[in-house]
Amino acid sequence: MNVLVIGSGAREHALCRSLSLDPAVTALYCAPGNAGIAEVAELHRVDALDGEAVSALAVELGAELVIVGPEAPLVAGVADAVREAGIPVFGPSKEAAQLEGSKAFAKDVMAAAGVPTSRSYVCTTPEEVAEALDAFGAPYVVKDDGLAAGKGVVVTDDLEAAAAHAAGCERVVIEEFLDGPEVSLFAITDGVSVVPLQPAQDFKRALDGDEGPNTGGMGAYSPLPWADPKLVDEVLETVLQPTVDEMRHRGTPFSGLLYAGLAITSRGVRVIEFNARFGDPETQVVLARLKTPLAGVLKAAATGDLADLPALRWSEDAAVTVVIASHNYPGTPRTGDPISGLAEVAAEDAPHAYVLHAGTKYDGDDRDTVVSAGGRVLSVTATGTDLTEARERAYQAVGRIGLDGSQHRTDIAAKAAAGA
Ligand code: AMP
Ligand code: GLY
Repeated sequence: MNVLVIGSGAREHALCRSLSLDPAVTALYCAPGNAGIAEVAELHRVDALDGEAVSALAVELGAELVIVGPEAPLVAGVADAVREAGIPVFGPSKEAAQLEGSKAFAKDVMAAAGVPTSRSYVCTTPEEVAEALDAFGAPYVVKDDGLAAGKGVVVTDDLEAAAAHAAGCERVVIEEFLDGPEVSLFAITDGVSVVPLQPAQDFKRALDGDEGPNTGGMGAYSPLPWADPKLVDEVLETVLQPTVDEMRHRGTPFSGLLYAGLAITSRGVRVIEFNARFGDPETQVVLARLKTPLAGVLKAAATGDLADLPALRWSEDAAVTVVIASHNYPGTPRTGDPISGLAEVAAEDAPHAYVLHAGTKYDGDDRDTVVSAGGRVLSVTATGTDLTEARERAYQAVGRIGLDGSQHRTDIAAKAAAGA
């Protein structure tokens, strides 16, 4: 099978890594990719937001499966363009991607499907905002309605800061604060059948101890030793299947990856948000544990054959990933700094630990030097017999990487490994 992956993050590197290990994959392409992905896939240039360009590239390469990684191309309708060209595509249509593209739309679908989520108001004027903030009280949760790369949400006790964030957005969702640990649960769906993956936990705040601003995600681990073993079945029944059914009944079936961001509250599971694609960095740890070859799973979702897919097989191993981010991330990151230590990790830590690239590129024509090219730069991933071993291996590899001014959290999976 010829496979084309669209995107350039650590998630796409994780996808390409798994696909490169799948014997069914005869040729693997990625566009636009990054310096790390170049080691496992043939890179092509493309404007990932341009559906015509992506489908033309897929035709030219003879792709038999196109996987669209990030949300922006999905929301822009890139999957529709590829599907129109007659090529199976893993990723929802533009209309279905509104589950991620508009928080107000997602709330509407959840209400119709009876999916548990926080109470919320959609506001467009300062008066509505003031009323909603007053109705819920602190801590205030204010979300930009549209896509914001994980940075459109402000959770604060400060009424003025909450109102100021709302004032900067065209339309906001203001909602009840949800207390309790968060879980990311991904499901693969063809619009009818739903196959949940293993749950993971993401660390969204920039600094240790969950301090600092929200980011796209600073690390993740799987499995969750503290979670109720019935969690996945419960979420399948109360969240994932009803949402997929509701989307189909609306005439806008959702196929691809449905990501449920959940809060495990004292009153039960609540959806914090949906995403319409694999999460980053959770994908890095979930795929590290998936034993079933990936291409066939994604192809079955793309072609509507998921009901016939044998049960997924999972490794008993634990996996941890630690994100190394640029100086100043999640603000405007500094880029162009050389990265050292990649060869040392490959020599000393493989196969249990490996580096997945996000914002990296070669330094011009110099294929020996990799430089930073974005906010999140690397996602150092490791497996082990338990979380303690996986995190030791991940941090040992992190210690070999040199990137001037970079930052990473030191407490990824620490509490879960300690049994807390
Ligand atoms: P979202 O983009 O909706 O996932 O929000 C980003 C992060 O903000 C979440 O992972 C939570 O940590 C936090 N958050 C979002 N909504 C809520 C809520 N209703 N209550 C508490 N925290 C929230
Ligand atoms: N890990 C959060 C996200 O992918 O949105």
